[in-house]
Amino acid sequence: MWTTPGRKQAFGNIVLLGMVMVLINTNGVASRKVRVLDSFDDSAAGCSRKYSASLTDFGGVGDGVTSNTKAFQAAIDNLSLYASYGGSLLFVPPGKWLTGSFNLTSHFTLYLHKDATILASQDESEWAVINPLPSYGRGRDADGGRYISLIFGTNLTDVVITGDNGTFDGQGATWWDKFHKGELKYTRPYLIEIMYSQGVQISNLTLMNSPSWNVHPVYSSNVVVQGITILAPVTSPNTDGINPDSCTNTRIEDCYIVSGDDCIAVKSGWDEYGIKFGMPTKQLLIRRLTCISPFSAVIALGSEMSGGIEDVRAEDITGINSESAVRIKTAVGRGNYVKDIYVRRMTMKTMKMVFWMAGNYGSHPDNDYDPNAIPVIQNINFRDVVAENVTMAARLEGIPGHPFTGICISNATIELTKKPKKIQWNCTEIAGVSSDVTPKPCNLLKDLGSQNTCNFPEDDFPIVKF
Ligand SMILES: *[C@@H]1O[C@H](CO)[C@@H](O)[C@H](O)[C@H]1NC(C)=O
Ligand SMILES: *[C@@H]1O[C@H](CO)[C@@H](O)[C@H](O)[C@H]1NC(C)=O
Ligand SMILES: *[C@@H]1O[C@H](CO)[C@@H](O)[C@H](O)[C@H]1NC(C)=O
Ligand SMILES: *[C@@H]1O[C@H](CO)[C@@H](O)[C@H](O)[C@H]1NC(C)=O
Ligand SMILES: *[C@@H]1O[C@H](CO)[C@@H](O)[C@H](O)[C@H]1NC(C)=O
Ligand SMILES: *[C@@H]1O[C@H](CO)[C@@H](O)[C@H](O)[C@H]1NC(C)=O
Ligand SMILES: *[C@@H]1O[C@H](CO)[C@@H](O)[C@H](O)[C@H]1NC(C)=O
Ligand SMILES: *[C@@H]1O[C@H](CO)[C@@H](O)[C@H](O)[C@H]1NC(C)=O
Repeated sequence: MWTTPGRKQAFGNIVLLGMVMVLINTNGVASRKVRVLDSFDDSAAGCSRKYSASLTDFGGVGDGVTSNTKAFQAAIDNLSLYASYGGSLLFVPPGKWLTGSFNLTSHFTLYLHKDATILASQDESEWAVINPLPSYGRGRDADGGRYISLIFGTNLTDVVITGDNGTFDGQGATWWDKFHKGELKYTRPYLIEIMYSQGVQISNLTLMNSPSWNVHPVYSSNVVVQGITILAPVTSPNTDGINPDSCTNTRIEDCYIVSGDDCIAVKSGWDEYGIKFGMPTKQLLIRRLTCISPFSAVIALGSEMSGGIEDVRAEDITGINSESAVRIKTAVGRGNYVKDIYVRRMTMKTMKMVFWMAGNYGSHPDNDYDPNAIPVIQNINFRDVVAENVTMAARLEGIPGHPFTGICISNATIELTKKPKKIQWNCTEIAGVSSDVTPKPCNLLKDLGSQNTCNFPEDDFPIVKF
């Protein structure tokens, strides 16, 4: 839609900006006249907001050197005035747009041209320090606060970050270096974090070299992440791809992720802080994901899962050269549960492990975690799995005295590498069933014989709309 972004074409609506300014200034008549404007086609999830502006209207300079932090914030401050009048779109033209963090607004679309790159500033003073997440109690890298994300939004309704495969470049190398040297006072920024929001769409973008996690929707609902390419060196620290955290009704689809940590990590808070906050991640659908992550999981559940994780479905998942496919990470002290997890149609090549779940992850925010807060892991289903060049089929290791139960694996064919582990299935403190699985599973997964298939619900989650 922005293929030839001449001012006239792209900003055909610009005249309306003036009209609404007048309406705002003369309160009394505003609501009646605005209804006239409402007759414009306004597909909120797409690009056709009623009001559009370009970053250059606010003094943006796309030379890769000039800071655009003020231009972005001025643009969004201006466009936020139109939230109740049909919403707005900020267009980022071709160029390299260096910027520090900026905040989004409601009923708003940030649209990157395909040749636009938003370059994250490496100057720490461009990054405000904000409070730790209440469900974590502290930053992930360090005690206390954390650097705000490059793109941040909180308490929003209907926000879209999209583009014709335009790019966010986190320029993370300096952050990774400081992290390794222990030089960071606060937790590293993420690329995109949206908190306490409803109706979030992040689509058709390339995200590269994030300082830490890439996409972090937290305490939000109705979230769609679609058509995203995420690229980071496979040795970069904690460059998780997409981390839905205490979110309800989330769909992640058609994403390609190469990263230094889990491609997708489903979370819900950390030990006593997450238990107190008490907000699960539920109704999550992940489909058509391709992941390369040699030292981490294709999809991780946890380790921070203290608000609970339930009703997760994943299908048509491709894992290449990754450590494990779906991994459940938890620990004594986390509390709550991971339950009702359904996975089907996974295709994998060159994996250290296919299945991995364990209750000994450790990693606590502080020493005040509750040793009696034992996480319950139950009803975990995998079917239609094909893997080749695998070193070990499975590590299924529950918590002593508190087994993981209701594990079901069916129709799984795992071909081994030339030098496989002697023990293919290491099962302790688990209970479940299996059917049509090679190599032969451990006895704790009772063999039900052929033709039994693990469940995968066919009903849909509530339609994601905003
Ligand atoms: C917002 O931008 C429009 C169009 O450039 C302009 O007319 C208006 O004065 C701006 N408003 C503010 C508050 O800057
Ligand atoms: C963005 O929002 C955060 C959290 O509300 C706030 O601390 C920060 O100052 C805001 N940044 C700007 C530039 O307004
Ligand atoms: C955002 O919403 C949360 C949860 O409803 C609330 O606690 C917080 O005060 C809100 N923050 C702002 C800046 O409105
Ligand atoms: C988007 O750009 C990335 C990086 O150049 C590329 O790998 C990917 O294939 C592109 N995606 C689409 C849909 O064009
Ligand atoms: C994202 O790209 C897909 C495939 O090209 C397209 O169908 C879809 O409309 C795009 N979404 C947006 C919001 O631009
Ligand atoms: C077993 O899984 C494979 C791979 O997904 C699939 O092609 C096949 O149809 C499945 N078999 C049955 C009996 O469902
Ligand atoms: C198989 O996996 C091993 C690691 O276990 C790797 O070195 C090798 O390149 C893989 N082979 C193929 C054909 O991908
Ligand atoms: C199997 O798992 C248990 C429990 O985590 C561990 O102690 C043991 O070393 C593992 N055995 C092998 C052969 O990996």
